[in-house]
Amino acid sequence: MFNKLLKRNTDVVIENHDRSVLIPNEEVPAHIAIIMDGNGRWAKKRALPRVAGHHEGMKTVRKVTKLANELGVSVLTLYAFSTENWKRPKIEVDFLMRLPEEFLTTFLPELVEENVRVEMMGYHENLPKHTLKAIQKAKEATKNNTGLILNFALNYGSRAEIVDAVKDIAAQVAKGTLTLDDINEDLITGGLMTKGLPEPDLLIRTSGEVRLSNFMLWQLAYTEFWFTETLWPDFNEDSLLEAIQIYQNRNRRYGGLKGDEVK
Ligand code: FPP
Repeated sequence: MFNKLLKRNTDVVIENHDRSVLIPNEEVPAHIAIIMDGNGRWAKKRALPRVAGHHEGMKTVRKVTKLANELGVSVLTLYAFSTENWKRPKIEVDFLMRLPEEFLTTFLPELVEENVRVEMMGYHENLPKHTLKAIQKAKEATKNNTGLILNFALNYGSRAEIVDAVKDIAAQVAKGTLTLDDINEDLITGGLMTKGLPEPDLLIRTSGEVRLSNFMLWQLAYTEFWFTETLWPDFNEDSLLEAIQIYQNRNRRYGGLKGDEVK
């Protein structure tokens, strides 16, 4: 499946991914959301510090971004740091806060070249200045790009996001600029940090954990879920192709019936 074409007499390795696993004429998901889990376990298995797993996970981000963009995915949302992750040891938090900077410094030219647009959703409060600065720089440099939107969920928490949207609506009702009858699903959707983005079609969580961990609770209402035992640093292009192939074989009904099922 994952052909490695080794060029003889050189150390250059060309990696080629078998895209024929995808179903022709069947759409790829427009929005893929990923809970990147298992970095710590990947490192532990190798007797490395946990942060080595996060660093390796950053390389997976690059691979997955590149392929998703090539396949015509519109949005890739990556859960990089949750509002709950502040509970981790300071040394790990500090390292995680340096990763966007390292990633974006190293790969910004590549992202610009590949027409990828960088975005971020999450609370700016508490994020170190250097992290925000790196993101701001990448957002600015890629703002006119029309390819994949690489959306980092950083200091993101879904319940807090919903609470904020509800508070904003309540304030408008109190002011009299909105009535109770104006409150509907679209209004709440428009008050979330994903405003303007399509809802995720496919959610992937790596490392064998089967939970949402406060990630996009509203937006995932009709999303297809795929869980894999693969640890995030081991996740690769073939893993993404497998996930998309499984997605293409799913029957999305949004609570209704399709085709022959109606008879
Ligand atoms: C969960 O694994 C992972 C995280 C909390 C961080 C995810 C971050 C990355 C993959 C790097 C992000 C890269 C960029 C460019 C921002 P875990 O540590 O909980 O793993 P464990 O469950 O095995 O301990």
